[in-house]
Amino acid sequence: MSTNNDRQGSGDESAAALRQPSRRRFLQSAAAAATVGAAPHLRAQAQTPSAPPAEVHAPVPQHPVTLNVNGRAYTLQLEPRVTLLDALREYAGLMGTKKGCDRGQCGACTVLIDGRRVNACLTLAVMHEGETITTVEGLAANGALSPMQRAFIEHDAFQCGYCTPGQLCSATALLGEFRNGTASTATADVRSRPPQLSDAEIRERMSGNICRCGAYANIVAAVRAVHESGGQNNGNA
Ligand code: FES
Ligand code: FES
Repeated sequence: MSTNNDRQGSGDESAAALRQPSRRRFLQSAAAAATVGAAPHLRAQAQTPSAPPAEVHAPVPQHPVTLNVNGRAYTLQLEPRVTLLDALREYAGLMGTKKGCDRGQCGACTVLIDGRRVNACLTLAVMHEGETITTVEGLAANGALSPMQRAFIEHDAFQCGYCTPGQLCSATALLGEFRNGTASTATADVRSRPPQLSDAEIRERMSGNICRCGAYANIVAAVRAVHESGGQNNGNA
C-alpha cells in the first residue's frame, strides 16, 4: 500500500522528467524545426525555372601577324583583339616585358616602337606590323649590356626588378627625346629646347613608370649618369 509520501515522490519524478526532455525528444524536435524551415527554400528551388543555356560564341578568327621584334620577324596567329603585350609574352615567348596593371597605369609593359616608348598593354599587336619593336631583351647588343642597363646595375636602381624592363625602355627613350629637344611639363619654357636634363626633368619624364619598391632616387641617378656620360643606346632609341 502506498503512502502519501510514496505518491508524492513518484509525482516529483514525473514532473522532473517532463522538465528535462530526453535527448531523443530534443533531436526529434530539432529535426522537425529544420524541416519546416527548409521547406519554403526547397519549394522555391523546385519552382525556379532552369537557367537558359549558355550562349555559344563562334571562335574569333585568327590571322597571321608579322612583328619585327629585336631585329627578328615573328609571324604569329593572332585574334585581332590581342594586345601587343600579350602577343610578346604569350605568343612570341618574350617574357621580359612585364604585365603589371594591364591598363596603362604602371609602365611595366613599356617597349620601344620605332624608338618611341609605348605601353604595350594599351595597343593591339595587329597595329604594329612593319614597325620596329624593341623590348628589354633587345637593349643589349652583341652580348654587351646597354649603357642604361649597366648604369641601373651600378646605381642599384632596382630591388625586385619587376618594373625594371619598363624602366629601362622608358629611360632609353627618354634620352633620345631629350636629345631631339622634346619638352616635358617640367620644362620651364616649352617653346624652347630644355637647357639641361635636370633631376626634375628626369622624374617627370619617368613618371609613367611606377616602382613599387621605391627605387626612384637610384633610377634618377642612373639616368643622369648615362646622360652626363653621353652614353648612347645601342642604336635602338
Ligand atoms: S601593364 Fe601596361 S601600363 Fe601597366
Ligand atoms: S624594383 Fe621592384 S617594383 Fe621597381
